[in-house]
Amino acid sequence: MTYDEQIRRAAEAILDSGSVAVLTGAGISTESGIPDFRSPGTGLWEKMDPMEALSARVLFNNPRKFYHTGFKILTSMGNAEPNRAHFVLADMEKEGLIDAVITQNIDNLHQKAGSKNILEVHGDTRTGYCLKCGVKVEIGEMAEKVEQGEIPPVCDACGGVLRPSVILFGDMLPPCFDKAWGYAADCDLLLVVGSSLNVGPVNNLAAVCKRLIIINIGDTPFDSRAELIIRGKAGQVMDDLYKAIERIR
Ligand code: APR
Repeated sequence: MTYDEQIRRAAEAILDSGSVAVLTGAGISTESGIPDFRSPGTGLWEKMDPMEALSARVLFNNPRKFYHTGFKILTSMGNAEPNRAHFVLADMEKEGLIDAVITQNIDNLHQKAGSKNILEVHGDTRTGYCLKCGVKVEIGEMAEKVEQGEIPPVCDACGGVLRPSVILFGDMLPPCFDKAWGYAADCDLLLVVGSSLNVGPVNNLAAVCKRLIIINIGDTPFDSRAELIIRGKAGQVMDDLYKAIERIR
């Protein structure tokens, strides 16, 4: 099947579906300058052990290590801008073509692009909270405390330890994951954009959906379930997909 035929088929599948959910991963943000985790040669996890960088175990047992490595990854994405793929998803939501963006990303780029119904199943890098009293704080406030050598950063309200809201390896997923599961199980079509689908339990969304289309450069363990796999760069593919939808509808 040619690329153009793949794009047409994907556009028809979206238009034929009463409900479409989208699952995005780090691959949608590499064209915004944020490295993903597992791309050969450039993925973050080729340079460091994820369990040492972004695990709850290190956060609690070795906060100095956490705040000097993993925390810096979390606070390094603030200047990135959305790329064409993020903007297309925001336009598709506005036009009622998709119902929700379920994202594993913590880079805020779907928000910046204008998407509204976003389920951040791996948490966010905008906030942190106190483990003792639960009060929410801006991540910038935590970064300032860390800069001043306050490690782990403590809560001004009660003196408890603060932690980032992002989901670390070993954490439970946030409540929005249940909603994401509902979207994946109930929608007519799940579109995966830029994820290796290596990490559970989020990758199971690709197992419970009725129809699956994958837009991803690398292969994934769920490729055999997909009715269509488009191996291309998310920005270009999403742009071509959007244009094909406009032509057909
Ligand atoms: N266009 C399309 N695909 C791309 C692009 C691009 N421009 N750039 C990279 N990719 C693909 C890669 O080939 C890879 O298969 O995106 C995928 C990204 O996979 P990962 O790096 O594993 O990222 P992700 O799937 O989001 O990881 C899930 O793992 O480490 C944890 O919590 C972290 O949320 C993350 C989770």
